Amino acid sequence: MHYFAYKRNYLCCEEVPVREIIKKFGTPLYIYSAKTILAHFYKIQRAFSSIHPLICYSVKANSNLSLLKLLVKKGAGLDIVSGGELYRAKKVKCPSKRVVYASVGKTVSEIKDALSYGILMFNTESPEELRRINEIARSTKRDVRCALRVNPDIEVHTHSYITTGTRETKFGMDIDTARDILLHRKRYPYLKIVGIHLHIGSQITKASPYLKAIKKVRTLIKEVATRGISLEYLNIGGGLGIVYDKEKPQTARDFSLKILPLLKEINLKVILEPGRFIVGNAGILVTKVLYIKKSYRKQFIIVDAAMNDLMRPALYGAYHKIVPLQKGASHARKMPLIRGVDIVGPICETGDFLGKARTISTREGEHLAILGTGAYGFSMSSNYNSRPRPAEVLVKKNKIYLIRAREIYKELVRKEIIV
Ligand code: LLP
Repeated sequence: MHYFAYKRNYLCCEEVPVREIIKKFGTPLYIYSAKTILAHFYKIQRAFSSIHPLICYSVKANSNLSLLKLLVKKGAGLDIVSGGELYRAKKVKCPSKRVVYASVGKTVSEIKDALSYGILMFNTESPEELRRINEIARSTKRDVRCALRVNPDIEVHTHSYITTGTRETKFGMDIDTARDILLHRKRYPYLKIVGIHLHIGSQITKASPYLKAIKKVRTLIKEVATRGISLEYLNIGGGLGIVYDKEKPQTARDFSLKILPLLKEINLKVILEPGRFIVGNAGILVTKVLYIKKSYRKQFIIVDAAMNDLMRPALYGAYHKIVPLQKGASHARKMPLIRGVDIVGPICETGDFLGKARTISTREGEHLAILGTGAYGFSMSSNYNSRPRPAEVLVKKNKIYLIRAREIYKELVRKEIIV
């Protein structure tokens, strides 16, 4: 569900035709729908309302301050993974007790900053890291809460790069290590070990791997409870999949119906960390057709967006629907239908494609919208090939807000020193 739709044959974001937005801000351009973002946040909230979880939006999915503010104002917390994301959380005045901090390699200064902000807890990924946080905590007089990120060794059926809960991956700690830490928590006198954290991967379309993972930690939680160690939180991470192509992901409601009985039985405060589910289909990337060329027998549509703006196709072979801004019979009469064409950017890499073997009606000078790019689109963008990053726009009903200006060349070299 999202609020991008054709109205009188023109693609609109909420109540605004996309062509009006690009007239103002040019391309490539990310456009987000506020209503879509909030609708997804409320869906999760409603689905889990019986247990009042803390929903910490995963900042890495899309870290634009305006998006963070939109969610924080509605009661969301934030799941952060770096000092930079902490800085963003502070910028939008996210209450510190709604911030959780994961990441396999937190530096001393990141830990100190998070401590002084007074975050709800660190999701810690190893005994080594716990030791370091304990050291730092000694010199502060703060309550330092930590959850243990457990790697439950569960296979999820998604791209191997976004599988995080199997034994080959770097994330979290094995269950034996977690048990050992809990049983010997006196080794960390300045810490309160308050919970268990799981995040088994991303773009997961079924509840079953979550169930398996939660059952594994249920055993651990029960076991340590018999030794008098009680925990307060269970964080089940993010990972809920969305529709890019023909996926049939669970709805938030289906998901909650499947896992709520287990969560209620465990009876700890629940934290969720959705990213993609909230912003994924709330964003599009609009691009202009620069050229349409044929080389040997192959046709290419060359557009002004590229892998630096949207990495997902190049990095994961990810599929994103690509559609024209206009449809209907009169448009079709003017536009040639091009079959089996690769839609590519101007970057000097063969991997610089946005879509392969597509069939689309377009011509030079027209625009295309790349759908489902609200999550891990802008946030993974770069300046490769010295390309300024695109602007970002947020639409609220009939209003358009520029929420990040297009980068300019001067900014590309601002930090460089000619010697
Ligand atoms: N919590 C933790 C600890 C995470 O590492 C992540 C994502 C999330 C929550 C949010 O996951 P989500 O609900 O968005 O699936 N760049 C990849 C996705 C990487 C996900 C990294 N961790 C992509 O474009 O598909």
